[in-house]
Amino acid sequence: TLENILVILAAYLFGSIPWALVIGKVFYKTDVREHGSGNLGGSNAGRVLGKAAGISVTILDALKSTFTVLICATWFPSATIVAGLAVCFGHCFPIFAKFKGGKAVATTMGYFLGIGLVTGQFISIFLLPIILFFGILYLCKMVSLSSILAIGTEAVVSFFIQPDLVLSFSFVALFLFVTYRHKSNIKRIFNHEEKKITWM
Ligand code: G3P
Repeated sequence: TLENILVILAAYLFGSIPWALVIGKVFYKTDVREHGSGNLGGSNAGRVLGKAAGISVTILDALKSTFTVLICATWFPSATIVAGLAVCFGHCFPIFAKFKGGKAVATTMGYFLGIGLVTGQFISIFLLPIILFFGILYLCKMVSLSSILAIGTEAVVSFFIQPDLVLSFSFVALFLFVTYRHKSNIKRIFNHEEKKITWM
């Protein structure tokens, strides 16, 4: 329907808000695209601007998806899943930042949170990938690898723990998208050149 198309377009625009760029420019007078990995995400904001910025950007990026899912589930239920994906897509290809954005990790986790809340499966849809993420991060110290593995595991596990196939396939789509967005990281991982975190 036209209504759904407009909702999905709005979700894309909302997802396009580049929080790493906004926080960097407003509070640190720094364009994070010119430093570190150049990525517009929480990891690079943390790397370039420090822990407070990294945490704030990650939470704000994640909330773009969570809000979208909660609003859609209430008023436009049939648009919920595609709108969630549109936020992740907008985050990676933001109309407000020359279509060069992030890698959809925080927005995917925010999507998991929103879906976990509206389905009443907070533990298996949100807490599980979060615990996997931090568990893997503790072992390998690489945000990129931990993100790919945590989201990938959730995409597989979803088929066994909840009945909505469309939802599970949306997780698979996000896993493939996130992996594709990490292709430069994956190259660096194989070359043993990927930056490791120092705070854990
Ligand atoms: O936030 C995305 C993360 O998985 C990798 O980011 O800056 O290390 O390429 P970055």
